[in-house]
Amino acid sequence: MPGDGVGNDVMEATRIVLDALEFDAEYVPADIGWEFWCNEGEPLPQRTIDILKDTDCALFGAITSKPRDEAAEELKPELRDKGLVYFSPIVKLRQLFNLHTNLRPCKAYPGNPLNYRDDVDLVVFRENTEGMYGGVEWFPLPEKIYDALCDNPKMKKWKDKGLENVALSTRIMSKQGCESIVRQAFEYAKKFNRKSVTLVEKPNVLRETGGLITRVFREVQKEYPGIEAWEANIDAICMWMIKNPQDYDVLVAENMFGDIVSDLCAGLVGGLGFACAANIGDEYAVFEPTHGSAPKYDGQYKVNPMAMLLTAKMMLDWLGEKEMAERLEAACARVIEEGKVGTYDVKKDGKPNTTLEVAEEVAKYVKAGVAV
Ligand code: IPM
Ligand code: MG
Repeated sequence: MPGDGVGNDVMEATRIVLDALEFDAEYVPADIGWEFWCNEGEPLPQRTIDILKDTDCALFGAITSKPRDEAAEELKPELRDKGLVYFSPIVKLRQLFNLHTNLRPCKAYPGNPLNYRDDVDLVVFRENTEGMYGGVEWFPLPEKIYDALCDNPKMKKWKDKGLENVALSTRIMSKQGCESIVRQAFEYAKKFNRKSVTLVEKPNVLRETGGLITRVFREVQKEYPGIEAWEANIDAICMWMIKNPQDYDVLVAENMFGDIVSDLCAGLVGGLGFACAANIGDEYAVFEPTHGSAPKYDGQYKVNPMAMLLTAKMMLDWLGEKEMAERLEAACARVIEEGKVGTYDVKKDGKPNTTLEVAEEVAKYVKAGVAV
């Protein structure tokens, strides 16, 4: 699923490298993204869902995502006034396929001129289907929801504003959801000899949801005595990550805080051009770079394909193709370290290379089989 915007550019680049690896797969193209919203009123058509159900996993480029009202304005005229509401297709995919875990490694590859520090190497575990992304929202606020919420006396003050002026987004978290993401973070730390796991939350204010995941975290950590368990508030971690990012290993967070902190971490290792991600469920996974579709660069082959190539590396790992995954990462690392071939974001002297030229260079080292 290339999606739209630069999603197409980075997908093309990735195919060059996967072909160089001689990765044996049937590629089934599927529609997703802005164009299908504008023309069909559905950015994630049912035909795509049907195709995905028949595949082992999916590789996704990027899609444009806009707030509700802006999205409604771009629908083709016949589809307007039909009450269609835009919903991010990637969020929908995560929900539909129960891709509960969003894994986002942020590693400073040696020689990357955009590294904030050269010793950052951390992994974010983001819960991917609950919290503020659960989609339980209202505007205006229906009377019966208001009445039910008045079970808590703090709710009453909003009546004075008029319910037609009140919007509500909920942060719903389950013990199971919290436990699954926290446990995976600890399991990962154990498997890869990481020293600590940090819970990113705000339980001093969000007492119930933040309290729940904090309690779960404290319970689960007892099963991993060799791993330090740290707790940080979302605001504080934004400061600590700038001050001492090298101290952190594995971060775990609910959906929204994980979204925020993973962009911050990406910024430490070269920005979104280097940030890879995997949406993982029990049996299915969708691999997508953290970056968006950057419509202004659409079709210009300008953007850095590294994020997408490292995402493909995660896909190979998940599929059990360990040797290919290693070869791909080593080739990316070599191209970054040499710094001879790079897109505009990394190459400050000399003419920047295109997305596809970078892919060709990675493909060259993939074929040569450079070591890690
Ligand atoms: C991400 C993105 C998405 C998200 C957007 C595009 C809906 O920011 O994958 O981090 O918020 O999850
Ligand atoms: Mg994000």
